[in-house]
Amino acid sequence: MAIQAIKGVKDILPADMPAWIFLEKTARELFEDFGFSEIRVPVFEYTELFARSIGTSTDIVEKEMYTFEDRDGKKITLRPEGTAGVVRAFVEHKLYADSQLVKLYYLGPMFRHERPQKGRYRQFYQIGAEALGIDHPHVDIEMLAMLYELFTRLGITGLTLQVNSLGDNACRGAYRATLKKYLEAKLPTLCGDCQRRYETNPLRVLDCKVDADKFGDSPVMLDHLCNPCKTHFETVENGLKKLGIPFEVNPRLVRGLDYYTRTTFELVMGHPGAQNTVAAGGRYDGLVQDIGGPATPGIGFALGVERAVSLMDSATLQAPRPALFIAALGSDAVAFALPLVYALKSSGIRVDTDYAGGSLKSQMKKADKSGAGHTLIIGEQELKAQSAVLRNMQTKEQIPVSLSNAVEELKSKLNIRG
Ligand code: HAM
Repeated sequence: MAIQAIKGVKDILPADMPAWIFLEKTARELFEDFGFSEIRVPVFEYTELFARSIGTSTDIVEKEMYTFEDRDGKKITLRPEGTAGVVRAFVEHKLYADSQLVKLYYLGPMFRHERPQKGRYRQFYQIGAEALGIDHPHVDIEMLAMLYELFTRLGITGLTLQVNSLGDNACRGAYRATLKKYLEAKLPTLCGDCQRRYETNPLRVLDCKVDADKFGDSPVMLDHLCNPCKTHFETVENGLKKLGIPFEVNPRLVRGLDYYTRTTFELVMGHPGAQNTVAAGGRYDGLVQDIGGPATPGIGFALGVERAVSLMDSATLQAPRPALFIAALGSDAVAFALPLVYALKSSGIRVDTDYAGGSLKSQMKKADKSGAGHTLIIGEQELKAQSAVLRNMQTKEQIPVSLSNAVEELKSKLNIRG
C-alpha cells in the first residue's frame, strides 16, 4: 500500500496556494506598514521553554506537545505556538536594547497533538505578531486595529471580536480564592484534570474541554479587576469604539495558555467554539521575565492560516495563468522553440509549451486548458517565412509575429513592459 500523510497533517496543494500567498502577502504588507519586522525562530526548542511559558497545567503542555529526546538525550519539543520562541529570541539576542517598543511578526508551522477534525490539525500554520516593551493600552488598541484591518483586507466578514481582561498579579490572587470557593462544591462532579487543576491552577478549570458547560455562573475575573487593570481595560474599550472597531466583551473568555495578563481576545466565526476561533491573543506582561529576561510587557496575537483561508472567497483567487502558450509543430519548430521559450521566461514572460510537440489540435486544447491569453503557432511554413501566428485565445484574432526578433515583438504585442 502507498504511504500516506500522517493523520491530522495536511498537504497544501498548488490549487490552494493562491489563497495562501495572498494571505501571507497581505499580512506582510500590513504588518510592515504598522512597523513590524519579520523574525524566524526555530521549529523546535528545549521542552522547558514551552513548559515554563505556556504553563505546565495547560492542555497544550500536558497533552498536546510533540516531545522527544534527541540523540544527545536533550528533551526537545516541536513548537506548539510562536510566542515562546519569539520571546526567547528577544531575550537571547537582547533585542530590547534596539528600541523601546520591539515589534515582530512571524509565520510558519506549529504542532499540536490534538484530535484531528475540520479546522483542527496536528501541523497547522500561524501568522503572528508580538509587540514588546510598552504596556500602554494604546498598544493593545493598535494590535487589535491591525488584526481587524488584516481581516478587512482579506475580505473576510462575519467575525466577532471578543475581548476580556484576565487581570494581573495584583488582582488575580483574590479572584483565584473566590473561584476556588465557587468550584469547591462542584469538585466531586468534575473530571480528574479539573480536580487536579483545582489545586495547582484553578483558573485552568474554566478552560476544561469536558466540564466547560458547568461553569456558566462562575465568578469572572472582569468583576475582580484592581483599579489599574480596570482603567487599562476601559481605555482599550474606549479606543476600539473611537476607531470604529466592533467588539463584544466576553467575561467568560478564557485562553488555553497561562502567560496572559490583562487584555485577551479572540476573533470568532459565529458562536465561540474551539474550531471557530480564527485568531487569538493577548497581553503577557510577565512572560519575558518568566523566561529569564528583564521585566518587559508584551502583547500579541496569532491567526490560524488554514482557518482564515477557509473563510476567504477563493473564487476570486486564481492560480496565475501563462501569458503565452507556444505551439510548435514538427521537430524543426520544436527545436526552434527551445531557446525562444527560455529567452521569454528569462525576460519575465510566463510561457507554457507542449514539450511533446503533438498535433495542432491537441496543442490548441492544451493551450486552452493552460488559460494562456495568447498562443504562438510555429509550424514548418512559419519557420521558413520567419513569421509565426499569434492567436488571441479570447477574440480568436490572429496576427503575424516576426521570428527574427520574437522576444521584443511578443513583448510589445502582449503589452508587456520591461
Ligand atoms: P492559540 O489560541 O493557541 O494562541 O492559537 C492561535 C490560533 O491558531 C487559533 O485561534 C487558531 O486559529 C489556530 N490554531 C490553534 N490550534 C490549531 C490547530 N490544532 N489546528 C488549526 N489551527 C489552530 C496562540 O498560539 C498564541 N501564541 C497567540 C498569541 C500570540 N498570544 C500572544 N501572542
